[in-house]
This record gives sequence, structure tokens and C-alpha cells, in this order.
Amino acid sequence: MHAIATRRGSFLGSSMRRWLSGKPPRILITGGLGQLGTELAQCLRSKYGNDNVILSDNKEAESGTSGSGPFIRCDVTDFDYLDGVVKNEGIDWLVHFATLLSAIGEKKVDEAIRVNIGGFHNVLNLTRKYNLRLFCPSTIGAFGPSTPRIDTPDLTIQRPNTIYGVSKVHVELLGEYYHQHPEYQVDFRCARFPGILSGNTLPGGGTTDYAVHIFYEAIKRGRYTCYLRPDTRLPMMYIDDCIRGTVEMLHAPSDQLKMRTYNMAAFSFTPDQLVKELQKYVPHLKVDYVIDPVRQKIADSWPESLNDSNATRDWGWKHDYDLAKTTRTMYDIIMRNIDKDK
Ligand code: SER
Repeated sequence: MHAIATRRGSFLGSSMRRWLSGKPPRILITGGLGQLGTELAQCLRSKYGNDNVILSDNKEAESGTSGSGPFIRCDVTDFDYLDGVVKNEGIDWLVHFATLLSAIGEKKVDEAIRVNIGGFHNVLNLTRKYNLRLFCPSTIGAFGPSTPRIDTPDLTIQRPNTIYGVSKVHVELLGEYYHQHPEYQVDFRCARFPGILSGNTLPGGGTTDYAVHIFYEAIKRGRYTCYLRPDTRLPMMYIDDCIRGTVEMLHAPSDQLKMRTYNMAAFSFTPDQLVKELQKYVPHLKVDYVIDPVRQKIADSWPESLNDSNATRDWGWKHDYDLAKTTRTMYDIIMRNIDKDK
């Protein structure tokens, strides 16, 4: 049975009761078959047990993709179904990844509004109803062309010009509103992610995706056609840092989080710098540039680097991987994966 709380403190929610009884939290991850879900699930399952971490997505998991624990097919735009999952599975923490990224969002604006904004409303209302802890990432895409581009602080001008960015500003503001509302006091936690580089999973529909695709093309073909200008500098991060940071933020005691939306940064590079680093492993790599005006315009509107000193101060965030370590690790993993597929 769950406490259905509209006012925290009036009685204990399921999450708090589980903590007090020493039981691990029950966690639901939405959008779980994207770039981050399976890796986060693996990390959380090793801490809390396979069965306590449920991966979900609106498409069916192909065999092997959902890892070592439960998978539920679930569309975040269907409130009643999602409500049933949260209730029946006794969920305590919700990690909300389901979203359309920047480039695909511009092609499917109505769907992006439905999923990114409508889906978030559903998740937020369930967070309030069942007194959950909610982690939802934001992004460098929540900034826009009028934002200061270097060492961008947490609090600054946010006028994004993509539907993805607009929906993420909405997430940040509504989540913070529900948190500070005296009746709701929702435990909302949000980190603004840079572009994420991963060797075992692929991104889809983003502007920063080139930084992953180039590894596959370099290793398989020794050639890559990049859709961004060689001097386009963007903030990036290796997936292990992103997953560790997410878990650390999920764990941080609530009163330690002086803010509810934090920048999370690691390093920044241009396509040209990544090519040079990758050529240490693939010396014959040749890259040409055929600029996609849509993605170039998006990238040009984003910060070059983020200031994440508040995350470091409040919950101890610190990245481990730099460009050299990321490139070496990505190269090794993708080589291994390609060899396995042969
Ligand atoms: N990786 C995302 C994108 O490119 C940014 O958060 O859309």
C-alpha cells in the first residue's frame, strides 16, 4: 500500500517508509532503451538488486537490451497506464529519460510537445501523488543564442530556440515550482547534461551524436562525414561520469541540494580536436564536412562550456574522464564490440 500524499510530512510516503525499514528503493526508469537507460539500470541494479530497478520504454526491448532485470513496455503519455505501473510495482524513485532530443524534435514538433511536455506532466503528477523522488535530466539545449556561451552559470538567460530546449526549460521550472510549493514539496532533482559519449549504446536524434558516430565510422571505414563545422565547440561527457553523477545526485540528502537544477560538466571539444585525438588510434582516418544547417544552428546556439561549481559544492560532483581518456575508452569498447559482431 502506498501513501497518496499531496502534502509531504502529513504522513510518510512509500519511499521514506522503505528507507526507514532499510529496504532498497524500487526504481522506474522511463525512456530506458535510449542512450543512458540500460547503463544506469545496470549501475542501480548492482546496488539495489536486479528486481528493484525496472526499465521501461514505449517500444519492446529486443532480446538482451534490457539487461539483467525487469522490463515493462510503457508510454509516458498514457497517464493511467503509468499510474498503474508506479502503483503496482511500488515505485519509490523515478528516473525520467523519455524525451525527443534536439534534432529529431525539430522534425517532429507536435510529438516532442506530447512526449517532452505531456509526458513530464504525467510523471510530475505521479511524483506528487505517490510522494516519489524524481530525477529528470535537463541539457545544454536549455540555453539559447542569448545565453553567455563560455563558462555558462546555472542561473543565466535561457531563451532556447528548439522545442527540445523549450520543453526542458519547462521541466526545470515546473519541477522547481512543484518542489517549492508548500502543498506539494516534490523531491525534484535535475542535472543539465552535456553531450554524452558512450561505447555500448547509441544516441539518437541529437546534435551532439556525431561525437559517438565518428568512432564507428572511423573504425569500420576509416572515413566520416561530419555535419557540424570543424570549429564547433560543445560541452561533452563520458557516459560513466554521467551515470555516476546521476546516482550521486539521486542519493544526495535532500537538504544538501540548495538548488534543484544543476549544470554538470566535464570537458569541451570541437570536431577537429576529436578527429585529432581519434587519429592517434586510427591514423588513416579521413573526415570531411558537409554541414547540416539545422544541427549547426542548434549547436551555435548552445554554450561552449558550463560552470558546474554549484554541483561540486552541494553534492560533490567531479568528472573523471577527459577527452584523451574518453577517446581511449570509447575506441577500446567499440573495437571489442565490432570484433564480437564479426
Ligand atoms: N545530446 C543532446 C542533443 O544533442 C543535448 O542534450 O540533443
